[in-house]
Amino acid sequence: MRTTYLVGNWKMHYAPADTRTFLARFLSRIGTVTAGREIVFCPPALSLESALEAVKSTPVSVGAQNVHHKESGAYTGEISAPMLQSMGVKYGIVGHSERRQYFGESDVLVNQKAVALLNCDITPIICVGETLEQREAGEAQVIVRQQVEAAVAGMDITRLIIAYEPVWAIGTGKTATPADAQEVHDVIRDTLRSLGDSQRVPILYGGSVKPENIDSLMAQPDIDGALVGGASLEVESFLRICQYNA
Ligand code: G3H
Repeated sequence: MRTTYLVGNWKMHYAPADTRTFLARFLSRIGTVTAGREIVFCPPALSLESALEAVKSTPVSVGAQNVHHKESGAYTGEISAPMLQSMGVKYGIVGHSERRQYFGESDVLVNQKAVALLNCDITPIICVGETLEQREAGEAQVIVRQQVEAAVAGMDITRLIIAYEPVWAIGTGKTATPADAQEVHDVIRDTLRSLGDSQRVPILYGGSVKPENIDSLMAQPDIDGALVGGASLEVESFLRICQYNA
């Protein structure tokens, strides 16, 4: 039985004061977290410390949205994995399509960032997913397979989380149908099969996840959680997502 993950990616929202307010409200409402579920908030780097302080002694964890692949050096504006580790960050998102699209991150760099996190005992959440053009050209599965193979090269796959996020579903209100998502998740698990015990790898879905679709997504056999953008910015909607009906 794999752990399921409900991960809120706040992107460029919520400064430290907003982070404290949000998490105080969320934590006062969540009660006990269902066994086998892990809730993770990924605030902007500036708010990591506030988030870590707020979730101390609770079952909720904190992750980073990005990391530099080097341990230290003259890289103005960047944050390293050892820095995140020293703060107590447990997860790190890498390869998000917004990083690939707006900051030119390649599959090779995604792999290097994931290795940097693993070297600091931080679990990488590796994002993959096809664009609308690639889907319409019938290339979704080939693209995702290539992205996964490149991102996990040389790693112990049982220490990773993969997130399938079709680019056309991110922030658009268009969700992949549960069956479409399941089909690609199955391809991802198949891709991982030759690299180790793929049954142990959690594969999350991301792209317009909301209270209305979380139950049907989570009912799919290879969907092990959700990477949630917009709906994680509202206490009530993210609470409902965390309390999905199994
Ligand atoms: O990391 C989260 C994804 O980009 C999904 O964002 O839920 O706003 O579509 P969204």
